[in-house]
Amino acid sequence: MKAVTWQSTHQVSVQDVPDPQILDAGDAIVRITSTAICGSDLHLYEVLGPYMEPGDVLGHEAMGVIEQVGSGVTRVRRGDRVVVPFNISCGHCWMCTQGLQSQCETTQVTEHGSGASLFGFSKLYGQVPGGQAELLRVPHAEYGLIAVGSDLPDERYLFLSDILPTAWQGVKYADVPDGGTLAVIGLGPVGQFAARIGVHLGSRVFAIDPVPERRAMAARHGVEVFDQGPDGVKTIREATDGRGPDAVVDAVGMEAHGSPVARAAHQVVGHLPKPVGQRAMETVGVDRLAALHTSLDLVRRGGTVSLSGVYGGVASPMPLLSMFDKQIQLRMGQCNVRAWIDDLLPLVEDPADPLGVTDLITHRLPLEEAASAYAMFQKKHDGCIKVVLDPARR
Ligand SMILES: NC(=O)c1ccc[n+]([C@@H]2O[C@H](COP(=O)([O-])OP(=O)(O)OC[C@H]3O[C@@H](n4cnc5c(N)ncnc54)[C@H](O)[C@@H]3O)[C@@H](O)[C@H]2O)c1
Ligand SMILES: [Zn+2]
Ligand SMILES: [Zn+2]
Repeated sequence: MKAVTWQSTHQVSVQDVPDPQILDAGDAIVRITSTAICGSDLHLYEVLGPYMEPGDVLGHEAMGVIEQVGSGVTRVRRGDRVVVPFNISCGHCWMCTQGLQSQCETTQVTEHGSGASLFGFSKLYGQVPGGQAELLRVPHAEYGLIAVGSDLPDERYLFLSDILPTAWQGVKYADVPDGGTLAVIGLGPVGQFAARIGVHLGSRVFAIDPVPERRAMAARHGVEVFDQGPDGVKTIREATDGRGPDAVVDAVGMEAHGSPVARAAHQVVGHLPKPVGQRAMETVGVDRLAALHTSLDLVRRGGTVSLSGVYGGVASPMPLLSMFDKQIQLRMGQCNVRAWIDDLLPLVEDPADPLGVTDLITHRLPLEEAASAYAMFQKKHDGCIKVVLDPARR
């Protein structure tokens, strides 16, 4: 089958790889009909290169139709249309029963001290072949797969695999009081949904992003938008009685713009020989902290900062004096996809499309065009906000 493979930092290519097989009674094989590129894939494209092997199959946002199931899978069957959550979780360990599927004790990658295994996400998360491919092997399919109806198009359901529950969890963790204010830093796909979810749940929502078309998209959904820089921060503070918003969602993560020194360090780490690069990741601060520092600065005293954006360095400097003095609550983590699906499924199926899931994709391309699609998404060329790859399209 054809699959998008990581080759080296800034280089992915579509290759022929062996078809996946059922290896365990709990597996299913899904024929992929839509698979998206995520901001998280961009970390593999650059700074997490030391944890990748040439040939690793990428992708963790996928849906399709079941082609085959193992003998232990009875809840879904061949022919069912399904969405694949990006975390691989068992559903019955202690963490899963607490709704912490991203910490699943059955699939944790203990060798690297990581939480649950993830599709297409480096050795740190189990080196499981990903979903930017014609076929995907899904372990723990009995619990993981989300069965969906056959009437609505893929774009309604696809984002249940990751960014919609990620944004939902980010906003839930932000814990905005009734009628309160929320700021979202970063208007990539995750930030777009976080901001719209904030509006949907009744908050006044501000957002900051340097890219004009991303701001314009958010503004269409009732979000008050600002360019990156001190003016936006000042205006948001003034609009919130000088205190700052009740909560801030950081939807940027470790590759923030506006951190020139760390940006250089990042590019160096991505290109170092593997052992040296890994040691650098594990001993120095490689995060570009501009968005996190903006979040901590902007939130009101006693407010909450919720990190949806991923951070990866182990020694990144944090302004603890001001965090402590401002009495900031900080929440974060990989999304527990399965925990939020019952809340989200009715919203994506609602004909009124209250979260605007049909207004996000800017490019739907053949899988074969993955290399240029990754470059376009990273550089934000051609108005690119969200790319969906279609393995059936030539
Ligand atoms: N927690 C999870 O489970 C989870 C799941 C999916 C994605 N993520 C993470 O969410 C983050 C965003 O993902 P995405 O797909 O939206 O990616 P993206 O790269 O398209 O979005 C990032 C956005 O932030 C903006 N930005 C950069 N620096 C900024 C700054 N200093 N101030 C304001 N805006 C800034 C960029 O212009 C861009 O629009 C990534 O870190 C990704 O890894 C986390
Ligand atoms: Zn993702
Ligand atoms: Zn589990």
